[in-house]
Amino acid sequence: MNIFITGGTGFIGKPLSVALSGKGHRVYVLTRSSKNPAHDNNITHVDGDPAIKGPWLEKLMECDVVINLAGASIFKRWTPAYKETLIKSRIDTTRNIVEEIARHKKSDLLLISASAVGYYGFHDDELLDENAAPGNDFLSSLSKEWEMVALKALSYVARVILNRFGIVLGKGGGAIHMMLPLFRYWLGSQLGNGRQYFSWIHLYDLVNIFIYQIENRGLSGIYNCTAPNPVTNRELTRAIASIMKKPLIMPPVPGVMLKLVMGDFADTLLKGQRVIPKRLLNEGYSFKFQEINQALDDILL
Ligand SMILES: NC(=O)c1ccc[n+]([C@@H]2O[C@H](COP(=O)([O-])OP(=O)(O)OC[C@H]3O[C@@H](n4cnc5c(N)ncnc54)[C@H](OP(=O)(O)O)[C@@H]3O)[C@@H](O)[C@H]2O)c1
Repeated sequence: MNIFITGGTGFIGKPLSVALSGKGHRVYVLTRSSKNPAHDNNITHVDGDPAIKGPWLEKLMECDVVINLAGASIFKRWTPAYKETLIKSRIDTTRNIVEEIARHKKSDLLLISASAVGYYGFHDDELLDENAAPGNDFLSSLSKEWEMVALKALSYVARVILNRFGIVLGKGGGAIHMMLPLFRYWLGSQLGNGRQYFSWIHLYDLVNIFIYQIENRGLSGIYNCTAPNPVTNRELTRAIASIMKKPLIMPPVPGVMLKLVMGDFADTLLKGQRVIPKRLLNEGYSFKFQEINQALDDILL
């Protein structure tokens, strides 16, 4: 198959492109900067900014599957200007794709678009499956709009899949990469009261979920892409410290301090949601990494 990926140069997109190429698919990766060309005969970089319409949309329409991952990183201080970047890089990108699909009405196309468990807003410890209601903070509103725009493609194509990712854990990048230096220098500690839930997924499982969805032609709709066993921030902190053999000597990081440093983004660290992949489990999808210790062993050892 021909597969087009926005955000295919990123932490998730890169291993996904390689895995799809390994399965014999031809992969087109859209990028605003092709200074890192793909070192794989089945992967071609396409120049373009997904938030701006351009010739890249012609290549997209030649493909059987479109995977939409592009978006500016949320792991930064959220100033009002940066919030605009977070919105534009996702909503304009998705709108451009859907408008092009509408123009061509390519009914056999599969669109898989990213979303996040931030959709559900902040909760205590109740279990949230795909039917739970959205929240109303900044990330919830962004995820809701991101999904609504993508869902408009349903009028024109056979299948639309929305993947609500948990925090993706993998080697060499993502959230864990940002936490490690603190633990390395004995500065790791729980955030706030540590009771907030952290819904995570190993990058290996996430990549395989995409392949599962592409290969099973009957699938469409919404999926929580999280491991079956979310953990609290306290459990996560203890697990990392134990695997890295570092004592936890620092007091919990006070919420006010995080707020000062991170702005509104601090809320996503201090509050959380306990999300379960009900649909994947019901369909018999088998996770390689079900427990946080297993995932961290694989990533950190
Ligand atoms: N990683 C996680 O834990 C996690 C959790 C939930 C949801 N997600 C979502 O999953 C998607 C992929 O995540 P990731 O961790 O792979 O992200 P990433 O490593 O930051 O990569 C983001 C990709 O989006 C493109 N991009 C970055 N800024 C952009 C902008 N301002 N305008 C247009 N395109 C831009 C980049 O492509 P070029 O620079 O090559 O153009 C890059 O390939 C994101 O939308 C993210 O919100 C990730």
